[in-house]
Amino acid sequence: MANSIESTLVETRVFQPPEGFAQHANVSGQAGYQALLEAADRDPDAFWAKQAREYLQWTKPFTKVLDESRAPFFEWFGDGELNVSANCLDVNLKNGNADKIAIIFEADDGVAKKITYQELHDRVCQLANGLKALGYKKGERSIIYMPMSIEAVVAMQACARLGVTHSVVFGGFSAKSLHERITDVGATLVLTADEQMRGGKAIALKPAVDEALGMGGCEAVRHCIVYKRTGGKVAWDAKRDLWLHDVADKQAKTCEAVTVGAEHPLFILYTSGSTGKPKGVQHSSAGYLLWAKLTMQWVFDAKAKDVFWCTADVGWVTGHTYVAYGPLAAGLTQIVFEGVPTYPNAGRFWKTIQEHKVSIFYTAPTAIRSLIKTSDAEAAVHPKSFDLSSLRLLGSVGEPINPEAWMWYHTNVGGGRCPIVDTWWQTETGGHMITPMPGATPLKPGSCTTRLPGITAAIVDEVGGDVAAGQGGLLVIKRPWPSMIRGIWGDPERYVKSYFPPELGGYYLAGDGAQCDKDGCFWIMGRIDDVLNVSGHRLGTMEVESALVAHEMVAEAAVVGRPDATTGEAIVAFVVLKRSRPEGDEAIALGKQLRDWVAKEIGPIAKPKEIRFGDNLPKTRSGKIMRRLLRVVAKGEAVTQDISTLENPAILDQLSKPV
Ligand code: WTA
Repeated sequence: MANSIESTLVETRVFQPPEGFAQHANVSGQAGYQALLEAADRDPDAFWAKQAREYLQWTKPFTKVLDESRAPFFEWFGDGELNVSANCLDVNLKNGNADKIAIIFEADDGVAKKITYQELHDRVCQLANGLKALGYKKGERSIIYMPMSIEAVVAMQACARLGVTHSVVFGGFSAKSLHERITDVGATLVLTADEQMRGGKAIALKPAVDEALGMGGCEAVRHCIVYKRTGGKVAWDAKRDLWLHDVADKQAKTCEAVTVGAEHPLFILYTSGSTGKPKGVQHSSAGYLLWAKLTMQWVFDAKAKDVFWCTADVGWVTGHTYVAYGPLAAGLTQIVFEGVPTYPNAGRFWKTIQEHKVSIFYTAPTAIRSLIKTSDAEAAVHPKSFDLSSLRLLGSVGEPINPEAWMWYHTNVGGGRCPIVDTWWQTETGGHMITPMPGATPLKPGSCTTRLPGITAAIVDEVGGDVAAGQGGLLVIKRPWPSMIRGIWGDPERYVKSYFPPELGGYYLAGDGAQCDKDGCFWIMGRIDDVLNVSGHRLGTMEVESALVAHEMVAEAAVVGRPDATTGEAIVAFVVLKRSRPEGDEAIALGKQLRDWVAKEIGPIAKPKEIRFGDNLPKTRSGKIMRRLLRVVAKGEAVTQDISTLENPAILDQLSKPV
């Protein structure tokens, strides 16, 4: 990320909130922001209790706010009870939104399907009743491996309605990754689809489930429920498989929402860490939903008339908080998009915004960067060729947005009139943490700006001491907040070790390096651990290395990230084979073979962009791989660091040449 750091540090442009926007904003002007910030800092418990009473409907009110007695295992609103699905659906029926469109499903082929809050409620109840009839109940765990669809949202909400904890697995993950998650989470139910449509192509999903369930250790799974998306041919196990329509369609359209404790795990979502296998990030029900709803109001300035579009897949946390839960809890109309930004052409986003009169658009810098390239070359797909006047607010998420991409987004998509909320957050934080409030915060391209009220973000050194403005350090959150991670599923020690290292004295360690300028604006500099961010997707270098060494030809592998103009970071893998080092065409062919292997082991998103073969890897005398040198070599730069501890300096020369 060196390029973006260099350019952000010289960034001086500031964009004030447009007056008209600020006037009508849910949080208006610096005074509005400061009032909330101060209230939260002065008496956090009172602040959070007020929000939780105002924004959530409780079946049993809470009397306790934050319980720190088992820190860092925190509890929020611990003796309160509610149901998340009732807070997303039933609430809207009561509020007069029954006939309002809840979801506009924009299919890959451009056909749109609309569904009202009443219809969505009915379908969630039908599936919940169907699951109940099959014996599923509160406390069990399900895996959802489905494409972007109304049905995926229905599946998540139906689980929430019964108190079944879901774990959504992104459809791009392999059978092996799926198996790992099914067994780790102890799932008793899998929901999937026959196939998914992406960019005009049908991609099978069920075969991966069949393969995963056949790998052993999944005996607890009683049913696999299949949504018929394409009607493509699927293998069928009559004892285990059921069509979603057979389970749901004949069921009653009301289903009493099962009351759960505030801390009941709503979902577990796997994400990459610096070591070993992915970790199951566990989230609560009440604290999580509170923040999903509150950030919809504060950060997306949600208004009844808005048409909201978050382009993230429900397989990632952004698709949980800002597709499956937040927009519904806020009573908005939202787009659920099945396709890809470049099909049938790179004008797809803009055409969809024009057609459905989207007013709030939330996407990832990678998508923006790739669209800049195509629209600069082809006027017909440039945002200027579309009527985007319905837009009033833009958002960015998942990785740092470089100022050039920010400016392009602001000018060409937002017509210079829409604020951009650059939202910094993580799977672990449940929702936005550091971000502009669009009617209050002056924007600086490339900075996610200021902390949200109640979020005590700060930059500290290795022992938890505050660092001065403008100096780099570790990004931490000093006090717990309601939507924070509750644990790593099945691994409490790893939770403490990863997020609350003793030397930081109880602060939450985000894993990002950052700095804070004199105005309190944060500038994210990238991960401080071995986590990569490729196209906004989190991947561990160790995960990719383990996949590579699992190949029979591979003796050793080291994986690093390299800055990439489109994907943010790209994966470069250095590989030592058990046989001699291949060269020329053979190296190209073997490289392709290994890239495909990684796609099969983890998923296509983990495919290295480049593989370089060596006779060895740069190591210290004690045998430790010197990754910092590999990072330099991967970038194509000359090594200027001290290499006196390196045992085999000549190897750097060999590894510095691309295949
Ligand atoms: C990075 C995605 C800069 C960061 C919601 C974080 C960002 C990781 C931003 C979490 C942003 C996310 N600016 N960096 N606005 N948003 N990141 O868990 O490194 O998939 O730690 O959550 O993405 O990725 P995750």
